[in-house]
Amino acid sequence: MNTGYKTHQAGTLRTDLIGQTVTVAGWVHRVRDLGGVIFFDLRDRSGLIQIVADSVHNANIHSQASRIKSEWVVKATGIVSERASKNPDMPTGDVEIILSELVILNEALPPVFSVSDQSPVDEATKLKYRYLDLRRPENAQKFITRHRITSRIRRFLDNQGFMDIETPMLTKSTPEGARDYLVPSRVHPGKCFALPQSPQLFKQLLMMSGIERYYQCVKCFRDEDLRADRQPEFTQIDLEASFVTQEDIITLTNDIMSEAFEAAGITLPETISRLTYKEAMTRYGTDAPDLRFGLEHHILTDILGKTDFAVFQSVTESGGLIKGLTVPGGSTVLSRKTIDELTEFVKGFGVKGLAYIHRRSEDEFNSPIAKFLPDQFLPSFAEKMNCAPGDTILIIADTSHKAVHDSMSKLRLELARRLDLAKTPYALTWVIDFPLFERDSEGNLTSTHHPFTSPHPEDIHLLSTTPEHVRAVAYDIVLNGTELGGGSIRIHDSKLQHQLFGILGLTDADIDTKFGFFVDALQYGTPPHGGLAIGLDRLCMMLTRSKSIREVIAFPKTQNASCPLTDAPSAVSASQLKDLRLKLDI
Ligand code: AMO
Ligand code: AMP
Repeated sequence: MNTGYKTHQAGTLRTDLIGQTVTVAGWVHRVRDLGGVIFFDLRDRSGLIQIVADSVHNANIHSQASRIKSEWVVKATGIVSERASKNPDMPTGDVEIILSELVILNEALPPVFSVSDQSPVDEATKLKYRYLDLRRPENAQKFITRHRITSRIRRFLDNQGFMDIETPMLTKSTPEGARDYLVPSRVHPGKCFALPQSPQLFKQLLMMSGIERYYQCVKCFRDEDLRADRQPEFTQIDLEASFVTQEDIITLTNDIMSEAFEAAGITLPETISRLTYKEAMTRYGTDAPDLRFGLEHHILTDILGKTDFAVFQSVTESGGLIKGLTVPGGSTVLSRKTIDELTEFVKGFGVKGLAYIHRRSEDEFNSPIAKFLPDQFLPSFAEKMNCAPGDTILIIADTSHKAVHDSMSKLRLELARRLDLAKTPYALTWVIDFPLFERDSEGNLTSTHHPFTSPHPEDIHLLSTTPEHVRAVAYDIVLNGTELGGGSIRIHDSKLQHQLFGILGLTDADIDTKFGFFVDALQYGTPPHGGLAIGLDRLCMMLTRSKSIREVIAFPKTQNASCPLTDAPSAVSASQLKDLRLKLDI
């Protein structure tokens, strides 16, 4: 990168340049003043190079160099030389620049925290001084990877005939299930725009417009409780296509994953497995299972419900669920204390206990519930559970199926964490055949994805009788237990869309105010269409092995949805409120 300030990028200098004069420019990373000789590392985006100012060779340069401090911006010229003591940990570690000219381009305040090491900094300080945090090479590297991933995916979609089209940010509420961020209108007092939770309706309108293949790297806004993998504003790779089936979208997305993994320098897992929602819930207790390890669940209601253990009997009689899993080597690794800790752990998810059966040897079992089990029950039960000598079976029973699935799914993850069971770094899976509806806390039917998702053609006859049994043509892609993306084939028939709104309890007036424009458009010749959105931040978080989504977002919000750097959100002036005709009630 030859500019008026530099001939080379610092991190690119190698032995082939020995003997040449180069000029580099960047930040002073670290200074080591050994008296007669000053060594400093100069950093730019490409990496570091060691620079030497030696008082014997050049007293003037040495005295200039003695002024510089960490994070000053400098331009340095000198001859590339072979290093006497090479540093194999640095890509430029075989060479150094013997300084002949130094220009201080800008001095700097001492950094609030060290840029040259990864010493821990509390989150608020880190985000307040994010521009310093991003100078840390490990942090900057994540954005290089993110950029590579994004541009590879864009190029791939361009080549597949997808058009990048922008959709409005000031819009009407879209039904993705979270709370909206609202923007009050000055021109229309008392009315608000909503920032989009996703471009869902607009991308479907683009299909009705004949665009056929659309994509966008787009900001979405959701006012929901934050977690390590959730931000209030985040980016989706959003896409939609006409005349496609579920299989077409799955194949396309698998190809996108292959591009993204390659861009991040990671080998894509050989197989991308596929589970139905029902299988995922039965075998893993969650619709986003981590398949890097086994510990599969078994449904044991039929077998254990008939035993004499009162808890199992009563749970079974009241229509509850019993699940178990086998922990290889559990008899030795699961001590009494560990089992007690795991029992407390699962109680946090709403169940009352955790039963264990240690298989000490071929026919020696140790369990507090053994006395309730029939003679000769345990050996055949152990075989069924693939429980070899040395292994342990863990069991949870509860009247609430949800509590059993939840607690067993969390138990599975906790065991894998404690016992370090995830041996493959990445496992990708599709979860398909989601239920079209689920019940909310008041027992009302709501859409599992959103109300534009097509019912499974084989289940349409159940819509009017048992809607909760209707499957959707909806699919999620899951990486290591994190939902990376999801989508569906949409309803393109306006009568069916109307029927669906009806099942969701929307009156004609509701439909009209919420989605009138959309329902109108559906009637003007809508092609069959479907799509998907990938959470780009989540994808980058996982492919850069980051602990939080915040590490791959340049200027993220804190856990309580604020920005310490700009101090947003902040109070607005009385005159702004007056313009908007808003009065505060706080
Ligand atoms: P969905 O709501 O499943 O689908 O979102 C798609 C993907 O976006 C990511 N995501 C988030 N990432 C960070 N922070 C958040 N708060 C957040 N919420 C979601 C996830 C998720 O898988 N319109 C549909 C897609 C479609 O049907 O085509 C949609 O938005 O990785
Ligand atoms: P108790 O007879 O209450 O001491 O329980 C015997 C064993 O069953 C203990 O190991 C309990 O943790 C376990 N247990 C109690 N309730 C449940 C439950 N709902 N599901 C699974 N195991 C349970």
